[in-house]
Amino acid sequence: PTKIAVFASGSGSNFQAIQEAIEHGELNAKIELVVTDKPGAFVITRAKKSDIPVLALNPREFASKADYETAIIEALHEREVEWIVLAGYMRLISGVLLAAYSQRIVNIHPSLLPSFPGKDAIGQAIAHGVKITGVTVHFVDEGMDTGPIIAQAAVAVVEGDREATETAIHKEEHLLYTKALQQLFK
Ligand code: GAR
Repeated sequence: PTKIAVFASGSGSNFQAIQEAIEHGELNAKIELVVTDKPGAFVITRAKKSDIPVLALNPREFASKADYETAIIEALHEREVEWIVLAGYMRLISGVLLAAYSQRIVNIHPSLLPSFPGKDAIGQAIAHGVKITGVTVHFVDEGMDTGPIIAQAAVAVVEGDREATETAIHKEEHLLYTKALQQLFK
């Protein structure tokens, strides 16, 4: 199995979907480490339930982003991690991590990129009044939600119901990420 690290800042529902796909034999990978920049994130609780080690580092406790990422890379190398899977990791990846994992970092974003990059993509799409939004899986580069697209799926906006729209997008994310990762980790 491909050794992966999942990076997350929040709830970790995508982490959970990936872990379940692995447990069900649908994905030929193993999550060696969960990396979070938010020591209170719910993803930590989820990881512990699955007995997956967690590296929780507060970037503000490092002198620079380079130092912060270097500490992460040490932990990744210790566990021989081959790929980085970003799942709601709300922080730009810098040149240090990109150089260490060149072409081996993927991200999921809740819009049809290049529309609505950055924070609150779902809110941005609703505010713009689009009728169709969606989900994108892409390789990571220095930009914010840029980088070559691997897979996309469309999701209809449920008019006047943000919660229903969010639920539909998250459901699609869990399906699309698993499918895209299956292709990458054969
Ligand atoms: C997901 O919707 C993911 O696409 C988004 O954060 C959410 C995390 O949910 N990522 C971005 O917006 C990246 N720019 P989760 O913690 O439940 O997986």
